[in-house]
Amino acid sequence: MASSSSLVLILATALLLATSFAQLTPDFYSESCPGVFSAVRSQIGIALEKEKRMGASLVRMFFHDCFVNGCDGSVLLDDTPTFIGEKRAGPNMNSVRGFEVIDAIKAAVEEVCPGVVSCADIIAIAARDSVVELGGPNWDVKLGRRDAMTASQALANTSIPAPTSNLTKLISSFAVQGLSVQDMVVLSGAHTIGQARCTTFRNHIYSESNIDGFFAGTRQAYCPPSNGTGDNNLAPLDIETPNFFDNSYYKDLIAKRGLLHSDQELFNGGSTDSQVSEYSENSDAFYADFVAAMIKMGDIKPLTGYDGEVRKNCRVVN
Ligand code: HEM
Ligand SMILES: *[C@@H]1O[C@H](CO)[C@@H](O)[C@H](O)[C@H]1NC(C)=O
Ligand SMILES: *[C@@H]1O[C@H](CO)[C@@H](O)[C@H](O)[C@H]1NC(C)=O
Ligand SMILES: *[C@@H]1O[C@H](CO)[C@@H](O)[C@H](O)[C@H]1NC(C)=O
Repeated sequence: MASSSSLVLILATALLLATSFAQLTPDFYSESCPGVFSAVRSQIGIALEKEKRMGASLVRMFFHDCFVNGCDGSVLLDDTPTFIGEKRAGPNMNSVRGFEVIDAIKAAVEEVCPGVVSCADIIAIAARDSVVELGGPNWDVKLGRRDAMTASQALANTSIPAPTSNLTKLISSFAVQGLSVQDMVVLSGAHTIGQARCTTFRNHIYSESNIDGFFAGTRQAYCPPSNGTGDNNLAPLDIETPNFFDNSYYKDLIAKRGLLHSDQELFNGGSTDSQVSEYSENSDAFYADFVAAMIKMGDIKPLTGYDGEVRKNCRVVN
């Protein structure tokens, strides 16, 4: 009696694990597409040789994919007359970039193993390779995601935190994704690379007091005060080394040289100050925690098994 009912329990558990908890794993393509890594890496090399900033753009793309219904390539789907994707959502429009690079990577990967590697996995590998190419840490990317057949502009509008967010809002936006306060602070360290548009930081440099005066003046010179003018002028998120994945973002925050309101919220007399201080002094700790958090973010609600599909063209559902 006892043994047969425990057998049933074991079988039921095994079935549940097999069907609904398929796990991502770094060796997912070791049989089906061992060439995927070199194909992605060489395209990243080509793209970053043209423009270093592209590395930052691809890291951000991964974030914007994962925060909207999980890491499922939904951010890549183009709008059509009958389909509204995420590209024109507030946080993405005129902002998320690198779609042509993903197309080039997908084409290179299709050449070595057609129909095998998902677009969602390509974004994950591209983000890792970009960090490495810009001098940051390396890690094994977990794989086996499949591509969504839908997207959500509404969720993209609400799930991706705005640069006007306060610390409470930043923490809660990450918490709903299953990410901790520490994950939020360390993932924000991605702002050690890349650029932001004037419209995203204008209010911070003109109207807020928790900013270094000299730094504010420097930024004002390229971001005129009136709304509408120069909205798309760019400034580096890390004034020191915007093309190098180091810990200087955290040093900027301590010097009150955070570019976005949301950046400076991480070091503004609140509960996350100590973590910012630690990373500013210990880049090994920043790297180790960043890697762990990128893996965790990459685990948000993946489609696996027979869910979703492997798109042929990352911009359209098959
Ligand atoms: C904590 C909440 C976050 C907020 C409020 C935020 C906000 C922003 C904003 C407003 C920009 C500039 C966009 C533009 O002007 O077009 C930006 C850029 C960027 N973000 Fe974030 N972000 C956050 C977290 C993250 C995370 C978690 C990552 C990745 C792990 C990330 C990676 C980047 C990168 C690399 C850029 C530069 C992109 C480029 O140069 O193309 N951000 N972010
Ligand atoms: C999302 O935001 C954009 C830009 O602010 C807006 O045009 C669009 O209507 C919003 N979409 C939804 C579904 O809320
Ligand atoms: C933080 O922002 C939210 C809105 O996003 C607001 O409701 C809340 O009162 C703010 N908290 C603080 C401490 O300012
Ligand atoms: C820009 O417009 C916003 C909202 O319309 C306003 O809150 C802000 O103060 C304006 N900024 C400047 C510098 O005029």
